Amino acid sequence: MVFAGAGALVASTGGPRRVVCAQERPAAAVPAAPGKYLGAQTCDSAACHSKPEPREKAPYLTEYTSWSAMEGDVPYDRHSYAWRRLRGADKGGDDRSPEMMTKLNALEGTKGLAEQSQRCLSCHGVSVHDYGVGAKNPGAAVGLHKALQGARFRPEEGVTCDGCHGPAEKWIKPHEKEDWTIAEWKKLGGPQGGSQKLYDQHGIYYSKDLVLWADQCVRCHLKIDTNMLEAGHPDLVPFELFSHNQQVPHWRDYSFEAPAPELPGAGPQHAARVWRVGQAVALREAFDQVVVRARGGAHDKADPDHVRAALARATGHWVIARHAVERVAADAAKALAGHVEALRAAVPAEGAVDLGAVAKTAEAARGVAAGLARAMADGPLAAADVVALMKAIARDPASGATPEAADQTRMGLYALNYARLVAKDPDALSADPPTDKGLVAIYALYELEPGTPAFSQGLEAVARALE
Ligand code: HEC
Ligand code: HEC
Ligand code: HEC
Repeated sequence: MVFAGAGALVASTGGPRRVVCAQERPAAAVPAAPGKYLGAQTCDSAACHSKPEPREKAPYLTEYTSWSAMEGDVPYDRHSYAWRRLRGADKGGDDRSPEMMTKLNALEGTKGLAEQSQRCLSCHGVSVHDYGVGAKNPGAAVGLHKALQGARFRPEEGVTCDGCHGPAEKWIKPHEKEDWTIAEWKKLGGPQGGSQKLYDQHGIYYSKDLVLWADQCVRCHLKIDTNMLEAGHPDLVPFELFSHNQQVPHWRDYSFEAPAPELPGAGPQHAARVWRVGQAVALREAFDQVVVRARGGAHDKADPDHVRAALARATGHWVIARHAVERVAADAAKALAGHVEALRAAVPAEGAVDLGAVAKTAEAARGVAAGLARAMADGPLAAADVVALMKAIARDPASGATPEAADQTRMGLYALNYARLVAKDPDALSADPPTDKGLVAIYALYELEPGTPAFSQGLEAVARALE
């Protein structure tokens, strides 16, 4: 059976440094992590994160309550369903999983069940963070390494609290003290390296730092290898950080909180900033997926059609995000525009593709994108910029030209409009049916077919609503 880290090479995590071949990996029995993962039960207590109702002030302490709540037979927060999904319907899961695993085993010459495979558990369970100490073994499935598990860890819990917030062994006790995390982050350097030290010393992942927040989600939500697709895994749904967050029941909306060094994204432009950082990180990962597919690898077949799909995803992000990149990092925007043009020319809609040339250009694009996230997190962003960005996106014909671009347009405009309403008319955020003309026009885009005159008119209606 192919275990330790094989799936982590391409499936779960991004970044150039992670694209290594299996043989290069040290035969280390235990992947490095800054502590043991304890599992969700550790957080489940009425005195801790299982209050039936949110308390007045954040954190609301209902996080376990919503993470574990059920919607019929399936948990409301899909992260607590991730592992159960891997077994057949007779065991409360999804019959597609064992079917997929049978095909994947045939493709890769392996044996074994989905719920015991590194190939699935890197995303459908707790996996070692690809950050700090953890970067040595990104994506290693904690469920397969006893040495990384606390006494109450159960793989069945899926993506648990410490699956996102960092292995809890060292921080569980001290963090019981109110505001300990923030105080410790400040002590360790705050914005100057505090997040890294907090993780390496205590294991806590500082997800209030928007770059870390975004990096966390894309390690499971943007890329998937081609063997997985050929075995029947659906391509991952289009990623947009703000919309994705809104579906994690306990995410904290920092739109109504005062900006502070320890809450770098807080304030009325929160949603717009989250969108912006999410796009920067998505661009990096999406170009990485083009590189990996063009080169081929342990789990990726070098194949023109898979490259086309990866490029469509990347350009879907690019045509929308470019409006923000141009305002924050003009040189990077120019370089990326050049790389995207070259990639489009090298990848025709049909027929043969010079995969070597594509890999090289996509690698260059990935390099530029990798430098963007911090600038997008920290750069200026005022209420007027938000509206200007919306207009620029709504008036750009490229925004509706492909299905991938249209997906990013709808979600991007939604996030930006959220920030616009926080600043202008917060009541309109919850009006049902919606009263804000911009929001009505954005919702209408979800009903329109990309690439049609109707979609262009829909975009124009968004622009007009902002006048
Ligand atoms: C899919 C990833 C993910 C999982 C799983 C997850 N969280 Fe979170 N959590 C987040 C993100 C993102 C935020 C918002 C950023 C922040 O405040 O750190 C957050 C915020 C929080 C906060 C608010 C922090 C504050 O300062 O107000 C608490 C408390 C929390 N989570 C506890 C939990 C608990 C308990 C569980 C398990 C029942 C859990 N989380 C599972 C991603 C996750
Ligand atoms: C360790 C991997 C992992 C991480 C990290 C992670 N997720 Fe997920 N997430 C999953 C998996 C796997 C599913 C699908 C579970 C299922 O339904 O079987 C999922 C489901 C979701 C869904 C529901 C989507 C759908 O189509 O069903 C949303 C929304 C989501 N995640 C948002 C986030 C956000 C936001 C973050 C970052 C704060 C995050 N996730 C971090 C693995 C992860
Ligand atoms: C790169 C991370 C990743 C890997 C690896 C992965 N999945 Fe998923 N899977 C997801 C996410 C994320 C979703 C939720 C849909 C979305 O957001 O795209 C999902 C959804 C699913 C679904 C539901 C599909 C649907 O349309 O609702 C099944 C079934 C599934 N995965 C099974 C598996 C199996 C079996 C494996 C291993 C052979 C596996 N997954 C490996 C990330 C992953």
